[in-house]
Amino acid sequence: MEKVLTRNIHKENSQSIDVYLAGGGYEGLRKAVTSMSPGDVVEAVKKSGLRGRGGAGFPTGLKWSFMPKEKTKPHYLLCNADESEPGTFKDRLLMEQDPHMMIEGCMIGAYAMQADAVFVYIRGEFVHGTKVLDKAVAEAYEKSFAGKNICGSDWSCELVVHRGAGAYICGEETALMTSLEGERGYPRVKPPFPAQAGVWGMPTTINNVETLACVPDIIVRGADWFAGIGTDERNTGPKLYCLSGHVQRPGVYEAPMGLPLKELIYDLGGGMLHADRPLKACIPGGSSVPVLRAEECDVNLDFDSLAALKTGLGSAGIMVMDSSTCMVKALLRISHFYAHESCGQCTPCREGCGWMERILQRIEDGKGLQQDIDLLKNIADNIEGRTICALGDAAAWPVQSFVTKFRDEFQAHVDEQRCTVQGAAHA
Ligand SMILES: Cc1cc2nc3c(=O)[nH]c(=O)nc-3n(C[C@H](O)[C@H](O)[C@H](O)COP(=O)(O)O)c2cc1C
Ligand code: SF4
Repeated sequence: MEKVLTRNIHKENSQSIDVYLAGGGYEGLRKAVTSMSPGDVVEAVKKSGLRGRGGAGFPTGLKWSFMPKEKTKPHYLLCNADESEPGTFKDRLLMEQDPHMMIEGCMIGAYAMQADAVFVYIRGEFVHGTKVLDKAVAEAYEKSFAGKNICGSDWSCELVVHRGAGAYICGEETALMTSLEGERGYPRVKPPFPAQAGVWGMPTTINNVETLACVPDIIVRGADWFAGIGTDERNTGPKLYCLSGHVQRPGVYEAPMGLPLKELIYDLGGGMLHADRPLKACIPGGSSVPVLRAEECDVNLDFDSLAALKTGLGSAGIMVMDSSTCMVKALLRISHFYAHESCGQCTPCREGCGWMERILQRIEDGKGLQQDIDLLKNIADNIEGRTICALGDAAAWPVQSFVTKFRDEFQAHVDEQRCTVQGAAHA
């Protein structure tokens, strides 16, 4: 397939506005602002079938249409550049190598929703990405793609880069807003939804970097072109896949939505890392989503194909595990992350995440109790759906799926009081 999102990244000086302009850059913004109404832009994005690339896969045009049509208050667009989901590293590639594609998408989105300002909330650790973005934003202002009278029109919109302090929870959209306001990044109860009362109480929309980077081509090449890429009308467009784990060639791969998982692992990724260690399991959408056993891996990487297997595309962080992987240790590592990142507001998440980690550590240490496996599942079941934000679910799903799908291995750890996986590394 022709590269769309990554077409510029290998060009010399790919970050500079001159290179972006030479490749037809900012034509989408010019077209939107000078020849389309904000409503036309929203309709085009709806028709394209674009769904959010940040994790939940919510239809982007529909989300944009929730913003009030009558403007009585300032409107804001927030670009979620926090990218903290383990196994996910696609947004940073876009920001660091081709920042103007994302900026152009931000400004088109801002026009569609008549935003007064766009805030790009970038993860604190992305120091290089922040420098690249700061420079690109200055270039965009200089050429009137941001600021006053954009593309010579009477529409104006500010563009601001805000660096977070490095917390996973600040990628959750309501925590992101609280953090942007200068408070501790605590998620908020919904409703009210951001389009009703978002950052500083104003109508707000939050979109992921890759979602926004898809927008310029939808405007230039048309919604039908975009909708023609992918599995079906619910799973459209080009997609970035982050491949990591036990494969020959880990990295970011661009392919159409719905790429077969096995094609990603065995063709693009060059196959398993060790020829004598076959595929055991794969997490298809970042550490939050339920794991797949090897025999479930004949699946297309799109929202609905993965949902049919009760997992998700999430942030498209595909983590491959071979036969030497100890599933107890892998789950312990994941659970440690969520226990560390829980903001502590809700009791099930605050207490449950630490409790699950402690039980897993006990099993890993060869001191697991017979009741521990059921207890783990029970704690996870009691977190799911009972918290303010989806971090609770994100912590519960790996536990539920690992324990259910690899129960024999957990049981063997408890029975034998040690790891029984051939070749597993335990530090
Ligand atoms: C704990 C948690 C962390 C999240 N982290 C991110 C993130 O780093 N980047 C992101 O785009 N979305 C993240 N999300 C999803 C956002 O809340 C939101 O759905 C997304 O930014 C919307 O953009 P989209 O519609 O373009 O996908 C996270 C959600 C949760 C629950
Ligand atoms: S689910 Fe966890 S991270 Fe989310 S608000 Fe509750 S305690 Fe905080």
